[in-house]
Amino acid sequence: MSYRDRERLAELWRVEVELFERARSRSRELFTEATRYLPDGVPMLWMAKWPGPWPVYVESAAGAHFRDVDGIDHVDLCLGDTGAMCGHAPPASVAAISAQLSRGSTFMLPTADAAAAAALLAERFGVPSWQFSLSATDANRSLIRYARQVTGRPKIVVHDYCYHGTVDEAYATLGPDGEVVERRGTIGAPVPPSLTTAVVPFNDVQALEAAFATGEIAAMLMEPALTNIGIVLPAPGYHQAVRELCTRYGVILIIDETHTLCAGPGGMIARDGLDPDAVVVGKSIGGGIPAGAYGMTASFAALVRSSLDLEDIDVGGVGGTLAGNALSLAGIRATLSEVLTAAAFEGMIDRATEWTVGVQAAFDEFDVPWQVTQLGARSEYSFRSSPPRDGAEAAAADDFELQQYLHLHALNRGILITPFHNMALMSPATTAADVERHTVAFREAIVSLFA
Ligand SMILES: Cc1ncc(COP(=O)(O)O)c(C=O)c1O
Repeated sequence: MSYRDRERLAELWRVEVELFERARSRSRELFTEATRYLPDGVPMLWMAKWPGPWPVYVESAAGAHFRDVDGIDHVDLCLGDTGAMCGHAPPASVAAISAQLSRGSTFMLPTADAAAAAALLAERFGVPSWQFSLSATDANRSLIRYARQVTGRPKIVVHDYCYHGTVDEAYATLGPDGEVVERRGTIGAPVPPSLTTAVVPFNDVQALEAAFATGEIAAMLMEPALTNIGIVLPAPGYHQAVRELCTRYGVILIIDETHTLCAGPGGMIARDGLDPDAVVVGKSIGGGIPAGAYGMTASFAALVRSSLDLEDIDVGGVGGTLAGNALSLAGIRATLSEVLTAAAFEGMIDRATEWTVGVQAAFDEFDVPWQVTQLGARSEYSFRSSPPRDGAEAAAADDFELQQYLHLHALNRGILITPFHNMALMSPATTAADVERHTVAFREAIVSLFA
């Protein structure tokens, strides 16, 4: 347990709950009404995981801020867990999306924005051939199917404690004896994950080679740095080893940049010169509306295309009636060309550095044995003293009660932190003053726990 004084933590939690209850009466009313029709009062059950007795209901948002229905202004450092990394309602995206909306949004036919959006993605991520979906989850699912189709092999490799959306194959972790087991919390797995998936620790080249040597692996699906169990950075040489092994064993290397896009305009692929066979992006690229995309090298795309019969192409398991719709594509084109620009990333990364320095300063001042890791415009602290080398190390540092306290403390001071992480994300609209609001409040929280 990372924080030993549980009595103090329980008392601090109680005080924050009272503060929350006093300030959020309108949210409470909406919540009470909502529980008549929505389980836990929320439209998606994971929204119940926010700290506090009921969720905060949003009135409106712009840039890096949102106002709730009780009139409280918040600095949003969650940004829809990356869905709003472009900032809320970025004017250029809103203009393009609104213009398209008034001309119709979904036709099952392409618009001129489709190729333009694909060209922007190709330039950023270095692979030429793109398809679109409504979510990063669906992009991952489609690529897994394609990889199985062209290799004729049954399984994929993922990292221990990865997250790639609601992809069945990725709900697997390593058990105590190194066996593949369902990840804790998995809901209704269709088959035991050991039938579909091999799991390796992040940064473990030997384990990866052993998995590939079985001859069963169609694809490796990986984030270039883990971002969903805290941030776990790649060790020097890890990406090169992964690439070499994938080439040697004929495994399709899929890099999921949905979160790591925070590293720069072309994610970690462009920043670090990575060389995948396929790329996944999603969340923020549509400027706030549902959009996902997946890119392929020319050779992988050619293999995929030549393996498919036109007559059956709509019923093969890669689809989505609204995938590639005109609205998403207008959003992607505008967001990539006018919002998530190279210049915007410079400011976002500077803000994340300021946030990291503020958190580290509080740790140093009070000798707190926790660490903070920055990855581009994203930064996250964890309740351990050194940066984790793999997902299991990161998971072992989890402390749900402590996390809930810190997040509620922040919320009560007008700062939103992602409920699944101790993570802060910067948008092009986030200012140094926004970051400073967090630095001041975070020091106060550290004082409450350690002084
Ligand atoms: C790395 C990664 N890939 C894919 C996804 C799935 O995104 P979505 O839920 O928008 O489908 C997530 C979601 O958190 C993610 O973190």
